[in-house]
Amino acid sequence: MDVLDGSDPRSITFAAERLRAGELVVFPTETVYGLGADATSQSAVELIYAVKGRPSSNPLIIHIAEISDLARVADLSKLSAQSSSWLDRLSSYWPGPLTVVLPRSKIVTASASAGLNSVAVRIPHHPVALNLIREAGVPLVAPSANLSGYVSPTRSAHVLEWGDNRIRCILEGGPCSIGIESTVISLLGEEPILLRPGIITREELVKTLECRILYAESNGSLPQLSPGLSFKHYSPKTPLTIIPIETTELPERIGYLSFDSRPPSFQVHIHKVLSPDRNLEEVAAGLFEGLRELDQLGLDLIISDCCEETGIGTSIMDRLKRAAAK
Ligand code: TXA
Ligand code: MG
Repeated sequence: MDVLDGSDPRSITFAAERLRAGELVVFPTETVYGLGADATSQSAVELIYAVKGRPSSNPLIIHIAEISDLARVADLSKLSAQSSSWLDRLSSYWPGPLTVVLPRSKIVTASASAGLNSVAVRIPHHPVALNLIREAGVPLVAPSANLSGYVSPTRSAHVLEWGDNRIRCILEGGPCSIGIESTVISLLGEEPILLRPGIITREELVKTLECRILYAESNGSLPQLSPGLSFKHYSPKTPLTIIPIETTELPERIGYLSFDSRPPSFQVHIHKVLSPDRNLEEVAAGLFEGLRELDQLGLDLIISDCCEETGIGTSIMDRLKRAAAK
């Protein structure tokens, strides 16, 4: 598994060739690193599930480079007029950290969507990702490049920790600027449904679409809509708990992940500050890396700070609650 410079056109040419040959390539996006494969190849897509240890019931996101390619991967004729007009508005976020669930077209292999008739699509906002997709000439499935259930990778080094030679290469693109995965919204129903909150928030989407947006919270009432949103996810191996906590009988070696530089009210072995002053974009950008760092220290417990569940705070708490789920 070589690490190649993603800004070198020769790396892109090589990786694109390998993708067309059905191999797997890790590439950077603005959110997290993705494990890429040709979305039109059943065997390449099946290799993704095998390498990640991902349940075959959890569908993948298709990455394209141009809005004009949307009609290749999605069957837009099956969209209602209302959903089409929502799609028009949402396409203003592309390239960017927004994934839209639409009716699937035949070119996307059914296993990419876990057999569903729908397809999740986004245009990533990263030059290496866009160059790679363009040169490959095929849409790419790209789940986050982590073992299923573990914390998503925001640096190439995170992929090197687990990947094996079934991954052909990693395109280096530096740390991901956003740090949490894209917002996922479904346009299949009569009302848009937020399936996964991200940096583009539900509040912002309500303003863009000028309508109500349902939120399929993981433990809520709409679990069948996004099979991948099973509750436990993003989990470090070390037990994780979120404040407020009972401070009696805490174990000895505690790592504290905080959203500002104030010292905790309990004894800690290590204090990892994600943002000096509770800047939530900064917290999101460092969240997965912070969890990974603390997870490597052989601690008894990781305690995480919390924030109000509005705006980006909803997305940060979504990831943390899943990571802490027993
Ligand atoms: O930011 C991202 O979206 C990253 C980067 C690499 O682009 N990718 C990513 O992929 O997070 P993954 O596989 O880790 O998450 C895909 C999410 C899952 O929650 C899955 O259930 C949902 O998208 N999804 C995919 N296809 C779907 C579909 N047809 N219907 C409903 N949900 C779908
Ligand atoms: Mg993932």
